Amino acid sequence: MNRKVTVFGAGFVGSTTAQRIAEKQLADVVMVDIIEGMPQGKALDMTESACLEGFDAKITGSNDPAACAGSDLIVVTSGIARKPGMSRDDLLKTNAGIVGSVCDTIKKNAPNATVIIVSNPLDVMTYLAGVKLGFPKNKIIGMAGVLDSARFRCFIAMELDVSMRDVDAMVLGGHGDDMVPLVRYATVAGIKVEDLIPKDKLDALVTRTRNGGAEIVALLKTGSAYYAPSASVVEMVASILHDEKRVLPCAAWCTGQYGVKDMFVGVPCVLGKNGVEKIIELKLGNDELAQLKKSADHVLENVKRLNL
Ligand code: LAC
Repeated sequence: MNRKVTVFGAGFVGSTTAQRIAEKQLADVVMVDIIEGMPQGKALDMTESACLEGFDAKITGSNDPAACAGSDLIVVTSGIARKPGMSRDDLLKTNAGIVGSVCDTIKKNAPNATVIIVSNPLDVMTYLAGVKLGFPKNKIIGMAGVLDSARFRCFIAMELDVSMRDVDAMVLGGHGDDMVPLVRYATVAGIKVEDLIPKDKLDALVTRTRNGGAEIVALLKTGSAYYAPSASVVEMVASILHDEKRVLPCAAWCTGQYGVKDMFVGVPCVLGKNGVEKIIELKLGNDELAQLKKSADHVLENVKRLNL
């Protein structure tokens, strides 16, 4: 393997991300965490599974942030997670400090890396990364839309009792309660979901999607989701490293698309070797555009709280 991915934060999201990257042979992985021995221990444990899972990717752990040097791609999961009753915005101050210092390290040691931000509040942390890194904006991407869309797709498939693989849907906007699931564009094997699920049921699926992260937090009590979040990150990682040009909703730097300017917010992107290679502009209805604006306004309010 000659590609290198560094994952900052070896908690549940970070370590499952590293595991999935290695098992899919996408790159060698370095996990960095401040807790002494923890990333090294998890890396060794994963390495011991390589002969069983059949991968050759190398996994190492480090407490030295400079271990990210030479990375092609960096995933930032560092920060605290929500506890029951907390919103993602409640994490803002603490995680801004953590993500800010991680970005300083990245800027110094891996100036050519593409950076995927996963820490919450997602869109705000991605904005912070944009300021701190000063990299071309196409190389800074927030992961949220893939996860929110996966949840929406999952709930639609469960409702209809059909294969998850046949459901396609996209969620735009910020990664918060006012995210925008695009009901009109949701399909099952090309058939409009609106033709298959009555409106009141569909509304309930939209609400469940908006609340998807909190539903898991309420069940876990001591942390937040990680299986679907890490799978979402890895879908983005694969598209970038393999130059797949997948069309995925990501928090990307908008320069007027969908009426959003100079901000990171969830929009449909083409992800390839150059990061966000294109933002696809769908023709949204007035209601959808209004929802997206409300969601973007909410992100902007929180960006202001950063006092940058
Ligand atoms: C979620 C958290 C990780 O949506 O934001 O599960």
